[in-house]
Amino acid sequence: MESKEVRDKFLAFFKAREHTAVPSASLVPENDPSVLFTTAGMQQFKPYYVGAKKADQDFDSLNAVSVQKCVRTSDIDEIGDDTHLTFFEMLGNFSFGGYWKEEAIKYAYEFITRELGLIIDYVSVFRDEASGIPADTESADIWHRLDPTLKIKEHNKDDNFWGPTGEEGPCGPTTEIYINGVEVWNIVFNEYYKSRDGNYEPLKTKGIDTGMGLERLLVQIQNKNNVFETDLFEPVIEQIKSLSKNYDSKSARIVADHLRTAIFMIADSVTPSNTDRGYILRRLLRRAVRFADKLALSVGSLTDLVEVVENIYDQIYPELKTENSKLKTEIQNEESKFRETLAKGLKEFEKGIDPFILFTTYGFPFELTRELAAEQGKNVDEADFKTKLGDHQSRSRSNAEQKFTGGLADHSEVVIKYHTATHLLNQALHEVLGEGVEQRGSNITAERLRFDFSHGAKLTDEEKQKIEQIVNEKIEANLPVNFVILSKVEAEKTGARHLFDEKYGDEVKVYYIGESLNTAYSKEFCGGPHVEHTGVLGTFKIIKEEAVAAGIRRIKAVLQ
Ligand code: ALA
Repeated sequence: MESKEVRDKFLAFFKAREHTAVPSASLVPENDPSVLFTTAGMQQFKPYYVGAKKADQDFDSLNAVSVQKCVRTSDIDEIGDDTHLTFFEMLGNFSFGGYWKEEAIKYAYEFITRELGLIIDYVSVFRDEASGIPADTESADIWHRLDPTLKIKEHNKDDNFWGPTGEEGPCGPTTEIYINGVEVWNIVFNEYYKSRDGNYEPLKTKGIDTGMGLERLLVQIQNKNNVFETDLFEPVIEQIKSLSKNYDSKSARIVADHLRTAIFMIADSVTPSNTDRGYILRRLLRRAVRFADKLALSVGSLTDLVEVVENIYDQIYPELKTENSKLKTEIQNEESKFRETLAKGLKEFEKGIDPFILFTTYGFPFELTRELAAEQGKNVDEADFKTKLGDHQSRSRSNAEQKFTGGLADHSEVVIKYHTATHLLNQALHEVLGEGVEQRGSNITAERLRFDFSHGAKLTDEEKQKIEQIVNEKIEANLPVNFVILSKVEAEKTGARHLFDEKYGDEVKVYYIGESLNTAYSKEFCGGPHVEHTGVLGTFKIIKEEAVAAGIRRIKAVLQ
């Protein structure tokens, strides 16, 4: 049975049992700041579990069924084995006060054994005396009545309790179905709400939330050894095999997994960057490039594989084909940027291995440095990296507070001019030195601006001149300066610059310099204030360029 038929069968089975089919939500969760990506089918239904919305008003039923696109990157190091994936589709049926354990277990049993003809190895139910949450003897009884020969195992809270996603939310004990030793279906009985302080309060309305990973299920249905042999991966793996001059199956699996995830992320409007979702996408793509190199695929092969993935999902996610050129451009650009960075970073790497500098200045994910070091038989100190990163994050937070939350302390006319000039400088630095540049601090007085940023080398005279020239051109063009207030998610989508790893509020101001947000020369998350037109700034001049820390440069500049 092919994957398409499995999805159809699942939806039809539950539709015939009074469930409304709801389309997959975006991989970028709406109105849910607790997680970066959609990680489970239940996520789009959270408001129904907690009673904030009524399911029967929104879809004429208390039950729903979906095939949800999900991303989970916590197991990224496991990719390449037989079962782990960073992207997967989750088949799920849900009830928000409609049915409860009896029906949920019966439906699952019928679907697995009758519709799919699979043999259940065993099921697990929740029992954990130490947790203070009562054992789920009811589920054990229901399973036993359905099939008295079925093996039932009792598992503790680590294994058989699900949720919440993020710090708070609906959660509860689970019962899980195993086939050939692999967990294929997780049935969650949402009966608690875990609050931020760690308390479990009973939910007013009990809910059902189930999740079955399509790829893992296909392994069983299609009688394969691993997810990469199923029809959702086989054509990509075959293509990699035929292009590779140095094939190994683990690298091929990593490339196939990461590329597929990247494609689905980009199709849902994520773009590579150094923050949040964009950083995860960047990390996946850069890892894919590394493993493509191990396989001796030619440069640009990832882009060529896009169509193979699109064809697999032709009938299910036609948007992948529609977005073909965007997918290819983003992947191509990221590969080129990474290759540039890699070349520069490798030089730094030869000088001495500092994962923190390689990360902040050259965009090397920690794992990359670790792998490169391992190739030379060397170890890197992860604890030291984490300490430095922690310091760095609190430093950028305090910079951000200085820069964003108060607006500026001194609102004198000249200070406001320097503030706008700082935005122009930030953008010009990116243009001249590349996207590896990241703001590290900013300080403005009535006499000058000061701007710290990551960059591995002293600026040449030519680079300084080029930066001055660009800023002065933008001043002469007398560009308008405006802002829009957007939700953080929308603001990020505009591509506006913001500080690495900074936590912003739900709504942010994006200041842009240019005729419109789309065509603007510069876009930044910023509290303001700014001048109305750049023409009033005068002439911009760099008076000093120096190092302030390893990999961090400082520019002082004046307006004359
Ligand atoms: N929400 C449950 C899971 O993700 C079904 O496993």
